[in-house]
Amino acid sequence: MTVSSAPGKVYLFGEHAVVYGEPAVPCAIERRAQVTAEPRDDDRVRVEATDLTLDGFTVEWGESADDHPDVDVPSSLVEAAMGYIEEAVAQARDALDDPEAGFDITVESDIPLGGGLGSSAAVVVAAIDAAVRARGAKIDPRALADRAYQAEHTVQEGQASRADTFCSAMGGAVRVEGEDTRAIDAPELPLVVGYDGGAGDTGKLVAGVRDLRERYEFAADTVESIGDITRRGEQLLADAEPGEAPDAALVEELGDLMDINHGLLSALGVSSRSLDAMVWAARNAGASGAKLTGAGGGGCIVALDAGGDTERALGFSNDCEQSFRSALATEGVRAEE
Ligand code: PMV
Repeated sequence: MTVSSAPGKVYLFGEHAVVYGEPAVPCAIERRAQVTAEPRDDDRVRVEATDLTLDGFTVEWGESADDHPDVDVPSSLVEAAMGYIEEAVAQARDALDDPEAGFDITVESDIPLGGGLGSSAAVVVAAIDAAVRARGAKIDPRALADRAYQAEHTVQEGQASRADTFCSAMGGAVRVEGEDTRAIDAPELPLVVGYDGGAGDTGKLVAGVRDLRERYEFAADTVESIGDITRRGEQLLADAEPGEAPDAALVEELGDLMDINHGLLSALGVSSRSLDAMVWAARNAGASGAKLTGAGGGGCIVALDAGGDTERALGFSNDCEQSFRSALATEGVRAEE
């Protein structure tokens, strides 16, 4: 039996704009998905998900196309979750050069599903790593990030950027610009996350921005401005002492950039009432800045606040179901067993 875990992430800057070749800076956070893989003697795959922020379920499938899962949770969520795991297994089989490798897989995750924290990427990264290791092979994090991206790309029908999967595999802060992916230095950022309990439809939100961009020049300019914010933000991170608490002035300036980034995302139509309410709850509590993270439409915001007030204020907000402080996860994918 092998167990691998991989972290979720927040976008400090650049979601949506990254789809059009602008840079983005996601940061891994200490919320992880953990996947256990056990080789089977046959070519079947059995998946048990004990916590995907939906009721646990067990699914078993084989090679037959009409092998449908029989489970008692909303089928769209199961189909979405199963799609990722099925593609992760396909990537593991390809890496192993064994198209008939069967597995018993168990998924546990404390990353809200579809909330903009990269839950699917973390599950895919951990699943490929665990399945490959379960059969005595190894895969290095960069090759793993690439395979996880291919898996997400297939499930999301070409809509995925490399940001989530690369960040989850490598950990820490990363920079993604098209095909160019790299780890970058970052200080110990005082990140606070607020989650409204919901999720946005990434495909629809990405399509909405594409449509606006085609119709209005302002929208294309807005996407470019998000790229400018990201470039400015990464310069600030590069000037700070890696792994150390940043000075207050730096946190304030990063926060200002996050506020502007949120405003621009709002202009592109990807915020929501609850995301805006959480952003304002954070700012009113003294956060240096706050923005939605991920596709938007619902899900999570990320704020910067060195004190404890933002987490508490979000906890009292009607629009926030869960708030937590999260350290930057310096480790990406890792073997647990
Ligand atoms: O909601 P998430 O974490 O899957 O982020 C989506 C980010 C987008 O930039 C909107 C799309 C992408 O694949 O980069």
